[in-house]
Amino acid sequence: MKKVIVAPSILSANFVALEHNVKMLEESGAEWIHIDVMDGHFVPSITTVGPLVVKSLRNVTKLLFDVHLMTTSPEKCWREFRRAGADLITFHNEVLADKKKLIDDIKSSGIKVGVSIKPKTSVSEIEYLIPYIDLVLVMAVEPGFSGQSFIGDMIYKIKDLRKIIDKNNYDCFIEVDGGINSQTASVCTNAGVDVLVSGSYIFSAKNPSLAVKSLLV
Ligand code: DX5
Ligand code: ZN
Repeated sequence: MKKVIVAPSILSANFVALEHNVKMLEESGAEWIHIDVMDGHFVPSITTVGPLVVKSLRNVTKLLFDVHLMTTSPEKCWREFRRAGADLITFHNEVLADKKKLIDDIKSSGIKVGVSIKPKTSVSEIEYLIPYIDLVLVMAVEPGFSGQSFIGDMIYKIKDLRKIIDKNNYDCFIEVDGGINSQTASVCTNAGVDVLVSGSYIFSAKNPSLAVKSLLV
C-alpha cells in the first residue's frame, strides 16, 4: 500500500517555538508542513502566517511547504508566498471565476498547485480541473478554525475523487484537512487519501511526535 504523507498544520503550533516544532515534525516522519493563510474575509479569522514566516521557516527546513490560501483574492498574493519558499500553493474553488489561468500561472512559476473544496462544494464542480492540478484539498470542516470535528460525509467525496483519478490515471494527490486524528485518519486513508493535514490533534497531544507517528500507520 502507498505510504500516506502527513502534513502537520502549524496553525496549532506554539509560534514562539516554531523552529523547534518544525524540527520535531521532521524527526517524527512528517514530510510536508501545512501553512494556513487566512484573510479575515474568505474566512472570519486572520492568521499571522504571512510570507515573512514562510521565509524564516525556509531557512530551517527542507520539508515541502504546502500553503493553503483561504483568501478571497489568491491571484494577488500567491507570488509573495512563492518567493518566500512555498512548494505547493492551494487556493479555493469557491473564490475565482477563471481558475485555469491561476493554475497555469502558478504551475509555470515552477511550483505545484492545488484546488480546495469546502464541505458544501461537490466534486463535480472541480472535476474538469483535475487533469491540470497536482492536488485536490478536501475540507472536512468549514475552513477558518482548527479544532473542529470531521464531517463524516466527506468520505464519499474522497472515494469519488479516488475513482476519478485512478480511472483516468491522473497525477493528482488527494489531501484532507480538518478534524484529522488517528481514527479519522485511517478512515480517510482507506478511502484513498494521499495527504493528511492535522493541527490540533498533533499539537495538543502530550507527545506531538507520537501523534504524528500514529497518523503514519
Ligand atoms: C482550517 C485549516 C486547517 C486546520 C486544521 O481552516 O485549514 O488546516 O489547521 O486543524 P485541525 O486538524 O485541528 O482540524
Ligand atoms: Zn488548511
